[in-house]
Amino acid sequence: MAEPLRVVVTGAAGQIAYSLLFSVAKGDVFGKDQPLELLLLDITPMMEVLNGVVMELMDCAIPLVKNLVATDDPNVAFKDVDAAFMVGAMPRKEGMERKDLLKANVKIFKAQGQAMEKLAKKSVKVVVVGNPANTNACILSKYAPSIPKENFSCMTRLDQNRAQAQIAAKLNVSTEKVSNIIIWGNHSSTQFPDVAHAKAEVQGKVVTVPEAVQDDNFLKNEFIKTVQQRGAAVIKARKLSSAMSAAKAACDHMRDWFIGTKGGNWVSMGVISDGSYGIKEGLMYSFPVTIENKKITIVQGLSINEFAREKMDATAKELEQELSDALAECVD
Ligand code: NAI
Repeated sequence: MAEPLRVVVTGAAGQIAYSLLFSVAKGDVFGKDQPLELLLLDITPMMEVLNGVVMELMDCAIPLVKNLVATDDPNVAFKDVDAAFMVGAMPRKEGMERKDLLKANVKIFKAQGQAMEKLAKKSVKVVVVGNPANTNACILSKYAPSIPKENFSCMTRLDQNRAQAQIAAKLNVSTEKVSNIIIWGNHSSTQFPDVAHAKAEVQGKVVTVPEAVQDDNFLKNEFIKTVQQRGAAVIKARKLSSAMSAAKAACDHMRDWFIGTKGGNWVSMGVISDGSYGIKEGLMYSFPVTIENKKITIVQGLSINEFAREKMDATAKELEQELSDALAECVD
């Protein structure tokens, strides 16, 4: 059997982690033959709750789990890690200004970046889920400069999965018949879910999604709005934010990173921009990517029409502002 992979989950006592840990532990991400050491990080007041999560994970009696460590110390949690799910973040509390939220998260991701810099493997693959995910991921990378920038990402897979499910429902086909939807930009309500290059298999024939749906008005309005506001709709109904679907998306994201994308299909991930599609270098922006041997490549050469350009630029603008506000909070 292979050596155990060391996998850290932050925010491990929270609701996303509750679903995520079970999926990771049973091999949904790194494979059914890959033993794991799970490192669970949360803050000191959550240690009792976290202990309950550890008890439950033990009680699952999953043979792949070789070691379980619960801690409130980033210096323990990030030691020699191969993969990091950064779920923990400061939630927005009543009366909290956006600026205060950014400030609190800069503090968290700075400290965790510094711990990663000292302790994580240089090959560690990192997905940031905790919001504001794109900007948190930038801050994390900034404070772990010896780890390659390409090893940091943020999650927009939930948005991709939501978009895919909406199109599948519209066409009355199973979700796996819909592929190559792109989420551009920020994991926020300015994101641009783009179906112009997406494909759907309908009655045995593969066509583009716009050809299959034949309703431009729906695709340009209702569809985009539904995906952009899906998180808020779930909160309204459940009184809690998306957790099961967020955990599934985090698993999809990391599994594709470790195992690779297939058959000319791409997936969307927030990665550090290299200037592709005119997006400012250094922004953590969601692009379509393919992955081979754990290397992420931004898909090149897709045609961008005026409608798309405008939406891609609007979400980039929001990210630029967010990052510049966050950087202003970084007092080195
Ligand atoms: P939750 O509130 O249930 O859990 C968050 C956990 O993080 C708590 O246990 C908290 O104590 C912990 N935490 C806070 N500061 C920490 C720190 N410095 N170190 C370690 N742990 C810390 O929240 P939930 O529902 O699990 O969501 C987690 C995050 O994921 C939120 O920021 C949420 O907005 C975000 N999210 C992102 C999505 C995406 O698509 N990118 C989708 C859904 C949620």
